[in-house]
Amino acid sequence: MTSNLSEPMNLNESLEELRQNTIASIAAAIDSDALASVEAAAIGRESPIAAARRNLGKMPGEERRDAGRLINEVAKELEALVAGRRDELLAEERAASIRREAIDVTVDYAELPKGRLHVIQQVMDEVCDIFVGLGYHIEEGPEAELAWYNFDALNTPPDHPGRLESDTMYLDYGKPEDEMLLRAHTSPIQARYMEQHDPPVYIVAPGRAYRNDTIDASHLPVFHQIEGLAVDESIQFSDLKGTLAEFARQFFGSSTQVRMRPHYFPFTEPSAELDVSCFNCDGGSSSCRVCKGVGWLEMLGCGMVDPNVFAAVGYDPDAVTGFAFGMGVERLAMVRHGIDSIRHFVDNDVRFLNQFPG
Ligand code: DAH
Repeated sequence: MTSNLSEPMNLNESLEELRQNTIASIAAAIDSDALASVEAAAIGRESPIAAARRNLGKMPGEERRDAGRLINEVAKELEALVAGRRDELLAEERAASIRREAIDVTVDYAELPKGRLHVIQQVMDEVCDIFVGLGYHIEEGPEAELAWYNFDALNTPPDHPGRLESDTMYLDYGKPEDEMLLRAHTSPIQARYMEQHDPPVYIVAPGRAYRNDTIDASHLPVFHQIEGLAVDESIQFSDLKGTLAEFARQFFGSSTQVRMRPHYFPFTEPSAELDVSCFNCDGGSSSCRVCKGVGWLEMLGCGMVDPNVFAAVGYDPDAVTGFAFGMGVERLAMVRHGIDSIRHFVDNDVRFLNQFPG
């Protein structure tokens, strides 16, 4: 369409024609790709302007200078127009892509009800927090456990009734040393921890425990315990009582009293059960629905760590003493909240669970 710029006679006219056409095309370019084509056609390497420049060499001196200046002027003007239009088009394209990718954050959505921790988890967290406040730290152990940690290391001999299939859920019998079971209590965590760490020890260990029990109002085959263990150079029975009394006051209320009754556990000597005064009637009502008039609530088992347990985990029984305790979390929650059946914890009835918002 543009006439031959290499003809000196037409140069002026032809340049002007190219200039006008290109200005119109630049303005009409709808996007940056179209603009690039206009640019290439008008001032690119294959363009009439490039051809005209190549032709300059054939012109006589004076004419060449004028023609060169003219070509450069037009080329510069067109380059500037292309650059300006390119900025405009790129800005438009960017704005369009932002619009395309925008998310409408105001859009309405169906809000799901928020969940909450199960009341058993809440009680477990609360008990652990109390002991953390007393300087203990939290440990865990496997639920599938070796019989060695569940029994032998805890001074529980092979003829102990707890080792019968009727009480404990076994995973693998095999040789006695590889016997596997679902731990019947959280006490094996004591042995595992001492085996790996030197004294002093101040730990609490929450977790699930398993027993071959038939479900009734106070038994579940899967339940939760929190184990405690303190081992140091001169720990005495009074430290055990003082620690558990402090726990009871924080958990049940500041006026709570504790008492201990002699008991038997293989892994402690002496052993005891701890009762707390009834927080509902303060130990003073014969018609109390929480303690049934007894005035005391049975809370947990405890005692001084048996020297045989220290020996089993590689501690020197003459160099350290310690106490241990273990409590059932379901029992704590039932007493604290006046819950009449342990089954409620696993029924998953939201009318029950919603009463413990945490
Ligand atoms: N392991 C015992 C149980 O499941 C509870 C227990 C009693 C744990 C006395 C202890 C303890 O650490 O010293 O019944």
